[in-house]
Amino acid sequence: MADTARKPLVEVDGLKMYFPITAGIFRTKVGDVKAVDDVSFTIYEGETLGLVGESGCGKSTCGRAVLRLYDPTAGSIRIDGKDIGKMDQGTLRPLRPKMQMVFQDPQASLNARMTVASIISEPLDEHTRMSRAEKLARVYELMDAVGLNRDFANRYPHEFSGGQRQRIGIARALALNPKFIVCDEPIAALDVSIQAQVVNLLEDLQDKLGLTYLFISHDLSMVRHICDRVAVMYLGRIVELAPRDALYDAPMHPYTQALLSAVPEPDPATETSRQRIILQGDVPSPANPPKGCNFCTRCPKVMPVCREVKPALTEIAPGHMAACHLLDTRNATTAGATGGTGAPEHTQQGENA
Ligand SMILES: Nc1ncnc2c1ncn2[C@@H]1O[C@H](COP(=O)(O)OP(=O)(O)OP(=O)(O)O)[C@@H](O)[C@H]1O
Ligand SMILES: [Mg+2]
Repeated sequence: MADTARKPLVEVDGLKMYFPITAGIFRTKVGDVKAVDDVSFTIYEGETLGLVGESGCGKSTCGRAVLRLYDPTAGSIRIDGKDIGKMDQGTLRPLRPKMQMVFQDPQASLNARMTVASIISEPLDEHTRMSRAEKLARVYELMDAVGLNRDFANRYPHEFSGGQRQRIGIARALALNPKFIVCDEPIAALDVSIQAQVVNLLEDLQDKLGLTYLFISHDLSMVRHICDRVAVMYLGRIVELAPRDALYDAPMHPYTQALLSAVPEPDPATETSRQRIILQGDVPSPANPPKGCNFCTRCPKVMPVCREVKPALTEIAPGHMAACHLLDTRNATTAGATGGTGAPEHTQQGENA
């Protein structure tokens, strides 16, 4: 599916989202939570970009900022050629239908007092001048598209199972024919048996409607299944971004290597030889990230430069980006000799594994 000759639909450049920390009765600003700190990526039309990383690394904040559910601290966000990064909400309103979000918890994101039909038609009420009959026809069409029985249009969310509720959320997100959907952990709250159904539905809809997804998840196996390219976040920054297979088969950044080493291998032969990399210490607070590389306090391969200079996200192999000094120096010394492609040579040493 990954075909980078395609047109970019979403271009994020230098995105920062800081939340102020205030103290005292005058709520004086004493610092910032740097939830997203200088993130750049492109999503091509029809593609699924995965966004993975541990809890609290800034995935949801990034997804919400890209859709301008927040006012970003800095950076540009181009969607279909228009920079929406600094647009005021009034100017943004007519563009809203193009970009939608599917949330993790359908229970919490659906209004319990509204019927399914009214939930799905809410965006139609807000953004279109359809007649009642037209709206109802559209609601039925959407219910068909996501596999919900039309007869249940007048029921309430609590009468549905978790998977069906997520289908209601997806139908509502589709109501205005969006091009781009941020799926924030869309299956995390569902039973394992239901997860595959919802993922299949999202994939079918993508094929039929030509949708582009930013798929946020900490389920690395699911991301491998559904995404064309994957971005790995650590403490507010992207540390690696690569085509799916390149990332899973030959991760370059020490953090990605550690993260992936925790994923069980389906093949028992390789599973027994799998070396788990256990990282020492905790993730630092996003209010007080380290001076150099954000990963320097836990990196098993840390060098002096890592504690001083933030590494930039650079292309190490075609389409494979990483932000790591180790790879920069390796490139400088060996790129000419080896062509600079493939996995890094250094072998994994599981610390205290
Ligand atoms: N509205 C807010 N105000 C202040 N801090 C926030 C706000 N939203 C998020 N944060 C902080 O920003 C950081 C990133 O949070 P975010 O929810 O984006 O992480 P996440 O990667 O989505 O985590 P999870 O996997 O648990 O959903 C966290 O430290 C969080 O506490
Ligand atoms: Mg989140």
